[in-house]
Amino acid sequence: MGLKEEIKRRRTFAIVSHPDAGKTTLTEKLLLFGGAIHIAGAVKSNKIKKTATSDFMEIERQRGISVATSVMGFEYNGVKVNILDTPGHQDFAEDTFRTLTAVDSVIVVVDVAKGVEPQTKRLMEVCRMRKTPVIVFINKVDRDGKDPFDILDEIEEQLQIKVRPLSWPVGMGGRLKGVYNIFDQKFYYFAGEDKTTAEKPQEFKDLTDPLLDKTLGDRAQQLRNDLELVEGVYPSFNVQEYLNAEIAPVFFGSALYNFGVKELLESFIKIAPSPRPSMTVEREVQPYEENLTGFVFKIHANMDPKHRDRIAFVKLCSGVFRRNTNYTHVRLNRKMKFATPTAFMADKKSIVEEAYPGDIIGIHDTGNFKIGDTLTEGELINFKGLPSFSPEMFRYIENADPMKAKQLAKGIDQLMDEGVAQLFTLDMNGRKVIGCVGQLQFEVIEYRLLHEYGAQCRYEPFSMHKACWIKANDAAQWEDFKKRKYRSIAKDKHGRWVYLSETP
Ligand code: G4P
Repeated sequence: MGLKEEIKRRRTFAIVSHPDAGKTTLTEKLLLFGGAIHIAGAVKSNKIKKTATSDFMEIERQRGISVATSVMGFEYNGVKVNILDTPGHQDFAEDTFRTLTAVDSVIVVVDVAKGVEPQTKRLMEVCRMRKTPVIVFINKVDRDGKDPFDILDEIEEQLQIKVRPLSWPVGMGGRLKGVYNIFDQKFYYFAGEDKTTAEKPQEFKDLTDPLLDKTLGDRAQQLRNDLELVEGVYPSFNVQEYLNAEIAPVFFGSALYNFGVKELLESFIKIAPSPRPSMTVEREVQPYEENLTGFVFKIHANMDPKHRDRIAFVKLCSGVFRRNTNYTHVRLNRKMKFATPTAFMADKKSIVEEAYPGDIIGIHDTGNFKIGDTLTEGELINFKGLPSFSPEMFRYIENADPMKAKQLAKGIDQLMDEGVAQLFTLDMNGRKVIGCVGQLQFEVIEYRLLHEYGAQCRYEPFSMHKACWIKANDAAQWEDFKKRKYRSIAKDKHGRWVYLSETP
């Protein structure tokens, strides 16, 4: 197969949701269809449960799981599907946002009873900003939930995107009969017992088919009315509008009962985009270009604390990646080759000889990579759009073991490269301040410094609530500002000036 065909058959996406909406369950069911796993329960949730905020072993265990499930690839009907996992816990939202830079589309899971929740809104903002095509899966219809029209209104309003239902539930909760697939005019019965296979669907000529009444009894008329309203209220589905991120097709189902998931997967494969062009500071990169380009969107520390190597996750944007071939690490302007690049297929990792745009490869790293780094065949370009966040929580970080100052410095340095948090150095006295977006990150840092670097840190309160990067055009004014606000002036890890503000 040539490069073009390989690119065309790839779908790289993420499933995002507010915690507990059913992301993990849906992922697992998709993997079951893809034959990537064989039993339900094989994919463990990588979310850190709310109850585990101070359980460090739990954090560590979860981290291990999330390496294994960071990328899950499988083949379905000749299509190579790459699912990028995202942490559910909001303290790691930054990680999720970065992952969204590496996907070509997104499936948003919404709980039919809870509707749009805060995390869903935040994630959707990033999708809107990046014009990422979105499919919505309204989950848990096996439970009582909101009226379908109401929840669609809520999605339109809260997520600020036009919607177009492609399936429609008949009943909900205890009264759920099944889901009608609007496009192929099939009705899928809800059996409700078997959680792994969907029943054979009932097919109808059209909505006047008497078989519909036989199948659904008096609910048939209700369905006809609903669908008439759907056709009247919502625009007809146009794939291009979806690809332009102007409209989100919506499916109803129950991930737990594996209901509506197959239809979701099959429609997804048909309409979701193959790898799209990516922007660099210098120019737009087309996936079909012959030369390889890619960027690091995630770095994960090795689970074995004795080895301080890491895995850099590279999203390939153009060309063909080949093992043991020289590539340019643009930031270091250095040639590098990789002997053991890994590909991710479901829960397995294996050494890959070749990979294509849309694929994610894992590169063994001994400290050469930072988030956002670019790999090319020599061209000096830099991918952009990797968000870096303004932290909202700050603490002084101090060395608690004077014998281990070096280890502490190295540990902090590497954890910051991984994007765990941001480090600031106060201009007035050189004290180090860690800035995070979530409380849990402080705990992860403390734990990892101890277990991976043998260093002990201590935090002290620092009552600032926002970091603002400063570019001064007027030198005198800047000096004056620095003098007046000297307690709040710091430099970030790259030496850029930052003003730490007390007001959020
Ligand atoms: P998340 O990754 O988005 O955080 O959600 P996850 O899949 O872990 O699902 C959260 C809870 O919702 C789980 O229950 C899961 O079984 C349940 N769930 C997911 N999809 C459906 C669905 O379609 N219908 C119903 N009724 N429940 C669903 P839990 O009790 O928190 O966890 P577990 O002990 O069952 O694993």
